[in-house]
Amino acid sequence: MHFPALTLALLTCAGTSVAAANTTKPYSTWMASSFLSKGQKINNHYVASVIHEGIQKAATAQKDSKLLAYASDAVSSLVTPNGTLIGWRPTFYTLDDIRIGNNILYFWNSEGRKEKKYEIAAKGLREQLNRWPRTPKGGFFHRDPIYKNQMWLDGIYMADTFYATYVSYFEPTNTTAWNDIALQFDLIEEHCRNKTSNLLQHGYSEDKKAVWANPVTGASPHVWDRAVGWYFVALVEVLEVYPSNLPGHARLLEYLTTLADGVKKAQDASGGWWLVMDEPYPGMKGNYIESSATAMFTYAYLKGIRLGLLDQSYTATASKAWDLMIDDFVQHEKNGTLSWTGTVEVGSLAGNASYDYYVGVKKAINDGKGAGPFMYAATEVELAQAL
Ligand SMILES: *[C@@H]1O[C@H](CO)[C@@H](O)[C@H](O)[C@H]1NC(C)=O
Ligand SMILES: *[C@@H]1O[C@H](CO)[C@@H](O)[C@H](O)[C@H]1NC(C)=O
Ligand SMILES: *[C@@H]1O[C@H](CO)[C@@H](O)[C@H](O)[C@H]1NC(C)=O
Ligand SMILES: *[C@@H]1O[C@H](CO)[C@@H](O)[C@H](O)[C@H]1NC(C)=O
Ligand SMILES: *[C@@H]1O[C@H](CO)[C@@H](O)[C@H](O)[C@H]1NC(C)=O
Ligand SMILES: *[C@@H]1O[C@H](CO)[C@@H](O)[C@H](O)[C@H]1NC(C)=O
Repeated sequence: MHFPALTLALLTCAGTSVAAANTTKPYSTWMASSFLSKGQKINNHYVASVIHEGIQKAATAQKDSKLLAYASDAVSSLVTPNGTLIGWRPTFYTLDDIRIGNNILYFWNSEGRKEKKYEIAAKGLREQLNRWPRTPKGGFFHRDPIYKNQMWLDGIYMADTFYATYVSYFEPTNTTAWNDIALQFDLIEEHCRNKTSNLLQHGYSEDKKAVWANPVTGASPHVWDRAVGWYFVALVEVLEVYPSNLPGHARLLEYLTTLADGVKKAQDASGGWWLVMDEPYPGMKGNYIESSATAMFTYAYLKGIRLGLLDQSYTATASKAWDLMIDDFVQHEKNGTLSWTGTVEVGSLAGNASYDYYVGVKKAINDGKGAGPFMYAATEVELAQAL
């Protein structure tokens, strides 16, 4: 596989320090060690989970044992010897806090499946899902009680990759669970998918009580790039473990391939994607090309291709996005480390979900919700180049 524009992008790197542009260093571990030099703390919040997953992916791909040991020790420090996940609130239901379960399962599996404390901690999260408050149709509340009867695309990434990975390890023949996982995607698709653009609105309110709810579908009014990014990644990661003999598999694959098509059509000429993706907002005053979703889409395309779920033709889409990230979002610091720019701090359905709301949120430097996915994407670029 080739990334023809890649070398050129590296040579013409628009970072603050040209001297720091170094074509021999893999970006995955470069960004990961840069993040470590800024000081990282692990906790059970999803942003820490994502940063540590980025470090773990980079370290694994580049066989960097020091970085991998860091990620492993960090996750280990979060689970006490008796299997208590520090910070976990078993009766507080917010899908964001399930994401850390993926980091735990990763090291449980990769370190020989012998660490009992990881099994206990993961089982706690799994059992919490069995108690989770749900919409009348069976969707997990994004958070109880404030987002009661709401499903957000973000929540699919936070909980359902863990749910699927756990079931693949511990309950592989539990058809009820596999169907339940597919149902979470089905509900999002039924309410949020725009069949013309093939993009999805940020979320929906099943009882239509949210101020922003569409009176027919319950959907929120806009397509927010990062929500679509999380969802795209979740489809790839769930399909990686979903049994191909169950009917849910074909549906998930259809959701993935149609989304891949919609996202490709929405790609800007620069190679990136707009914060608010639905027409007529791309290019409109206040809107901008946002970095976290650009990283997530790049990762989802390349991993989807690597797993044989997506067509090779999307390599060009990902390559173009990668070049933009290297040129515009990766910032070279004087001391040779990298920083990550251009990530919007938040996008929530807590308020009015208007265009003005989304574009009014600030961008942050070194935001893990963008830098983590950049590490994921870099890892896939490096795996593809190694072919
Ligand atoms: C590029 O990175 C490698 C590996 O870290 C290092 O040995 C080399 O000195 C760097 N070259 C430049 C020009 O910075
Ligand atoms: C390099 O500089 C960045 C930005 O000033 C800083 O955050 C980071 O801690 C520094 N890293 C090292 C290894 O000096
Ligand atoms: C598990 O260990 C933690 C601290 O190490 C302690 O607070 C907790 O009570 C223990 N739980 C059980 C069930 O033993
Ligand atoms: C199978 O999955 C369902 C739905 O998640 C769950 O309620 C049930 O406890 C699981 N069964 C087993 C044997 O784990
Ligand atoms: C769906 O997408 C099309 C094409 O971008 C657009 O014209 C239409 O308004 C969208 N529908 C909704 C409900 O957002
Ligand atoms: C929606 O909220 C934003 C702030 O988040 C505000 O600027 C805007 O005026 C509000 N729009 C409406 C229609 O209430």
